[in-house]
Amino acid sequence: MCGIVGFVGSEQAAPILLDGLERLEYRGYDSAGIAVISDDKKIIVKKAKGRLNVLRDMINGGKSIAGTIGIGHTRWATHGEPNDINAHPHLSGDGKIAVVHNGIIENYVELRDFLISQGYTFKSETDTEVVAQLIAFYYAECGNALEAVFRVLRRIEGAYALGILCIDEPEHFIAARKDAPLLIGYGEGCNFIASDVTAIIKHTRDVSYMEDGEVAVISADKVQFYNAMEQPIEKAHNTIDWDVSAAEKGGYAHFMLKEIMEQPEAIRKTAFSRIRDNRIVFEDLKFTAEQIKDVSRIFIIACGSSYHVGVVGKYNLERLMRKPVEVCLASEFRYCDPLVDDKSLVIVISQSGETLDTMAALREAKARGAYILSIVNVVGSSIARESDDVLYTWAGPEIAVATTKAYSTQLILLDMLGLYFADALGKVSKDQYDDIIEQILCLPDKMEQMLEDIEDIKHFASNYFNQNSVFFIGRNLDYAMGLEGSLKLKEISYIHSEAYASGELKHGTISLIEDGTLVIALGTYEPLFDKAMSNVVEVQARGADVLALTIENNVAEMKKTVENVISVPETHTILQPSLGVVPLQLFAYYVALLRGCDIDKPRNLAKSVTVE
Ligand code: G6P
Repeated sequence: MCGIVGFVGSEQAAPILLDGLERLEYRGYDSAGIAVISDDKKIIVKKAKGRLNVLRDMINGGKSIAGTIGIGHTRWATHGEPNDINAHPHLSGDGKIAVVHNGIIENYVELRDFLISQGYTFKSETDTEVVAQLIAFYYAECGNALEAVFRVLRRIEGAYALGILCIDEPEHFIAARKDAPLLIGYGEGCNFIASDVTAIIKHTRDVSYMEDGEVAVISADKVQFYNAMEQPIEKAHNTIDWDVSAAEKGGYAHFMLKEIMEQPEAIRKTAFSRIRDNRIVFEDLKFTAEQIKDVSRIFIIACGSSYHVGVVGKYNLERLMRKPVEVCLASEFRYCDPLVDDKSLVIVISQSGETLDTMAALREAKARGAYILSIVNVVGSSIARESDDVLYTWAGPEIAVATTKAYSTQLILLDMLGLYFADALGKVSKDQYDDIIEQILCLPDKMEQMLEDIEDIKHFASNYFNQNSVFFIGRNLDYAMGLEGSLKLKEISYIHSEAYASGELKHGTISLIEDGTLVIALGTYEPLFDKAMSNVVEVQARGADVLALTIENNVAEMKKTVENVISVPETHTILQPSLGVVPLQLFAYYVALLRGCDIDKPRNLAKSVTVE
């Protein structure tokens, strides 16, 4: 959720930290701060509530703080409201230790009571200040920052990525990780830490991912790692294969629009590289087509939009494979004593690979013997590393909080996985298989065609941006797609919005329809088009203003009943949501734009949710 960056080298640290934080701001943005060890050996901490610009202005773009080693943080509040005092970094009472932290220390109350009993006082409401003070407590005993950190790690429970400065050791800083992402970046005569590679990609693509329990001591010319047993270890280097331009707006007004436009290319990268001679080839999969025969049940586990991909997946995988598929919210799954066993295949879906609930659900399923196959965008992320198998979506870095291209690549990969397994199980005919592959290969072109002509959607957005409440209705795959369309709208425009299975309307929601209520009727699922139409008539009879979405072939039919219709190119039925979701993303974007919302950084949300 929050973002961490750290630097040590010969250049001034503060501007580098601010620049890194700017790239991390999408992870959390209610306050930000940096701590730098100044040339006269003091820890200077500057922090401010609000967006990074407030901090940037306060310290004159970093120029007002001299020093070549420092840590920075952009916050998404968990403990204590977003204000200057609760912002990170936190300084120990004696001014010797500064800490930035992502995650939650679960036993912080007990530790705080202990420190209070030892005469310590606290300024903030955060769990992080407890860590800073506890390090200072042990440092006062042993006089060695690394040893003090080891002692603290033995006492704290919960999740953390930590960056730690010690006033007496100005040549290095310390990093530690458990259940929250952290990586080391290797520069020329300088080194970095970051919670996310986007923070440092401008400086280096040479990184090492820290594992749970590991600690690192980072100086300008050396990084020394320790394992959970506190023994020195060597770590492998990884090379990031995308460059800084991928994490910049490239002329678009917002990352979200850029990422919507990047979808055709992202699908090509993700899907086409896995199709050879019109056959799906998963070279990156260890799980064999044979093994699928022994699987009794498939679980799809995820949160947010990734969960919505799973809902589409349930319809499509069951249809293709004729095996039971359950789609579960990770936050529910982990606590429901799930009926998962060694005959289960668990498909975990996550853009970031760091969502805490998804990670916990993965561990729960693994402990019960299930095989874990994850679909992840961020290479080297925690979920990727703890899974038995990973299929990467090659969407590139996604910066806008509201996901678009990651959703689309997850969707195509899940559909392909379903087809691949269905083929192994002998459940699809050659004609069906060939047809779906052919349609997958046409998908990006059709998407491009849609993205070239978006005037209608802008027009509809200008008609409807003042709505207070919107309902998305649809059946089967349209319902699954509506979940995502509705989430996009509420995330970025703050309009109340709900997605409903059309058949459920009569069981409650229809009572909310009144004169002028906007209903977005999704009618792209051809087998149930007629039923979708009858639901349209029902809501119109109650005064709803209907905006309909349907495939080209059915536009004329839809127009007999509805004036405002968005047309979607036709593809194979199971792939239709991949095209249908695009106008819904764009509609949400333009509505939010007209409402003057902060599209890339919607209020209260974060890109990667690493707390429960
Ligand atoms: C947050 C993001 C969503 C995302 C969800 C799950 O809520 O804002 O866009 O769908 O987390 O994230 P994941 O990284 O696990 O896909």
